[in-house]
Amino acid sequence: MVVGSVLVTGGTGYIGSFTALALLEADYKVVIVDNLYNSSPAVIDRIELICGKKPEYINCDITDEKELDKVFEKHSDIDNVIHFAALKAVGESGEKPLDYYHVNVYGTLCLLRSMKKHNVTNIVFSSSATVYGDATRFPNMIPIPEECPLGPTNPYGNTKFTVEMMITDHITAERANAKKEGKNGEQFNAALLRYFNPAGSHPSGVMGEDPQGVPYNLLPLLAQVAVGKREKLKVFGDDYKSKDGTAIRDYIHILDLSRGHEVALSHLRTQHPGVRAWNLGTGKGSTVYDMINAFSAAVGRKLPYEVEGRRPGDVLDLTANASRANKELGWKTEHTLEEACADLWRWTENNPQGYRQEPPKEFVEK
Ligand code: NAD
Ligand code: WQD
Repeated sequence: MVVGSVLVTGGTGYIGSFTALALLEADYKVVIVDNLYNSSPAVIDRIELICGKKPEYINCDITDEKELDKVFEKHSDIDNVIHFAALKAVGESGEKPLDYYHVNVYGTLCLLRSMKKHNVTNIVFSSSATVYGDATRFPNMIPIPEECPLGPTNPYGNTKFTVEMMITDHITAERANAKKEGKNGEQFNAALLRYFNPAGSHPSGVMGEDPQGVPYNLLPLLAQVAVGKREKLKVFGDDYKSKDGTAIRDYIHILDLSRGHEVALSHLRTQHPGVRAWNLGTGKGSTVYDMINAFSAAVGRKLPYEVEGRRPGDVLDLTANASRANKELGWKTEHTLEEACADLWRWTENNPQGYRQEPPKEFVEK
């Protein structure tokens, strides 16, 4: 039995594809829209390989409101949206801020307008820990709770912050408008999910992160060192006030992160909280050296690195206080950092060309 229908924007991307899988496994119907700017449609077959069900894929740019309208018209049963589609490279956002505002902010505006026209009232939004900026500027804000004042420090973070406000204003107004008409407006809900650092792959080795250009994040870069595509990892700074001098992040297994979306959506549908922000992280910080050690252990050999200066814009510590999501959503992480590293390595070894190759044989033959 289908429990509901979800439009997943950016659903062929890294987090979107795992969330589409989690939704199908929880018996939702899933329709994906993505313009393949940073992803491959081959992931659709991989999702089907794992769970035996296929999401519908529609090539659509979220900045084209008319195309979004057509999607909602074709799939009039869609009653929820999980919105991942965005540009996400922090450095690039400083070079091309208008592109980031166009896709991330204007694209979301098109999406919200199209949802409104088609009476779709629940939205789960991919926000980011980056909206907090440097939380170490406040006393007692590490690990970071949702109440920490927001203060993004780069254009990408500014777009996420802007969209959080846009969604909040929209849902608040829709609820108020419904009340004026004598209704309770409880169908209008939004989850602002602030992710920390997603990590890992599917344990089968069939699905994982497949960035189209040069990776920007630590783990995909370490994976490239492990397969010899990169000589060594550059460690950005060993003069932070941490146990070993390197910066601290909260690395969350992609399976926990994607399940967090399914759980948050279910909460919106049953508890009608209005607009609510939740951190999705483990609550445990790891340094860059911890990560090199953990990934080296998964690979079975010490991976080479050298220390460089700090990367501009980096902060000492982004570790989540995830107790709100633990209490209110009943969600807790279940997978360890070691599993994330082992799964990432399995994916990397099995799929040197990412999704641009056939899936690993053993899996298909099972
Ligand atoms: P990703 O690049 O793998 O996925 C984003 C998807 O959006 C891609 O498939 C891309 O093709 C698609 N897309 C881009 N522009 C589009 C457009 N105009 N129309 C339709 N589709 C478009 O990135 P991801 O890591 O899966 O991130 C998903 C979301 O989570 C993003 O909103 C990102 O900002 C957010 N986020 C990511 C991280 C992270 O570290 N990966 C952390 C926090 C938040
Ligand atoms: C992790 C740590 C680096 C690369 C970014 C975005 C954030 C969110 C997640 C989207 C840092 C260090 C990295 C390298 C290194 N994305 N590092 N050498 O910066 O925590 O977060 O992705 O919302 O908004 O800012 O992730 O993986 O780039 O870095 O030493 O070659 O690894 O300095 O301490 P980050 P990251």
